[in-house]
Amino acid sequence: MVSSILLLINSFSVNATPSNDRKAVAAFRDALGGGAITTATAGEEVCVWPGIVCDPDTLRVTDIVLRADDSPVNQALGNEKLHFSGDWHWTGLISDSLCLLDQLTTLIVTDWISISGEIPACITSLTNLRILDLSGNRISGEIPADIGKLSQLIVLNLADNQISGSMPPSVVDLSSLRLLDLSNNKISGEIPSDIGNMKMLSRAILGENQLTGSIPASIAALSRMADLDLSTNQISGSIPEEIGSMPVLSVLNLYSNQLSGEIPASLFGNKGLSHLNLSRNSLEGNVPDSFSPENYFIVLDLSYNKLTGEIPKSISSVKYMGALDLSNNEIVEA
Ligand SMILES: *[C@@H]1O[C@H](CO)[C@@H](O)[C@H](O)[C@H]1NC(C)=O
Repeated sequence: MVSSILLLINSFSVNATPSNDRKAVAAFRDALGGGAITTATAGEEVCVWPGIVCDPDTLRVTDIVLRADDSPVNQALGNEKLHFSGDWHWTGLISDSLCLLDQLTTLIVTDWISISGEIPACITSLTNLRILDLSGNRISGEIPADIGKLSQLIVLNLADNQISGSMPPSVVDLSSLRLLDLSNNKISGEIPSDIGNMKMLSRAILGENQLTGSIPASIAALSRMADLDLSTNQISGSIPEEIGSMPVLSVLNLYSNQLSGEIPASLFGNKGLSHLNLSRNSLEGNVPDSFSPENYFIVLDLSYNKLTGEIPKSISSVKYMGALDLSNNEIVEA
């Protein structure tokens, strides 16, 4: 089968490519098991290799974009022009040679399934990095402890790997970060209590890990947070009252945890919340009678808890109710 490779054609003289970047990319590619590229582009300079972008003035490598999967989601996440697909089966490692590429702003190596090994600790020296996406591989080990040094980082996506250890405390220093996706790994320990420092964060997807401890109240200080997913962990304690006042929160998935206590009435006071799934916890008490005509729920799932009392009368006042599930509680019809 012939791979469809998008070669990036550059107008500059390839001979001027800084040779150190060429060597670093070659070593990086070889560690991934990149034989296919070697053959396809033997003799080419680094800036015209598939998935590699250089700065047109300095000829330094700025982007590495190697996606195995050409799903529309992936295309939406990145520059379509850089989109790269092939039927090569890369199974190697992320080499620390990439740490020599000090002008790198984007590193996307996604959905190769078999790429393994650890995230090189030296990656935190690449302080120009804005996008780090290694999702959909088999990467293990821990998140580098000083990840917080990547102060330009906007996207940190390590989802669907086998990463263990805890969220490093320095993660809260990522003050430009908008997307944090660590879902479907083996991350344990607690969510840093000062997560509220990550002022730009709009999506925190931490589901399907082994997180423990409680939901830090500081999370409510994240005024841009739209999508918060802590589902399928071992998080305990009660749902902080303050979450009800998060201004743009629209999706809150806390299902399959060990949350207890009552559902804060403030939650239904949050008019923007359209997906609320609290299923499979140990929440107790009544469903708060605090619905209003401003509520618009596409999903409201409170099933498999220990809720008691009557279905609140105010629930019938909501503007819209899509999927409502109150089953497997001890709630009675009013
Ligand atoms: C809520 O999450 C559970 C997973 O525990 C899922 O099975 C259920 O479909 C979700 N509810 C809705 C209404 O989407």
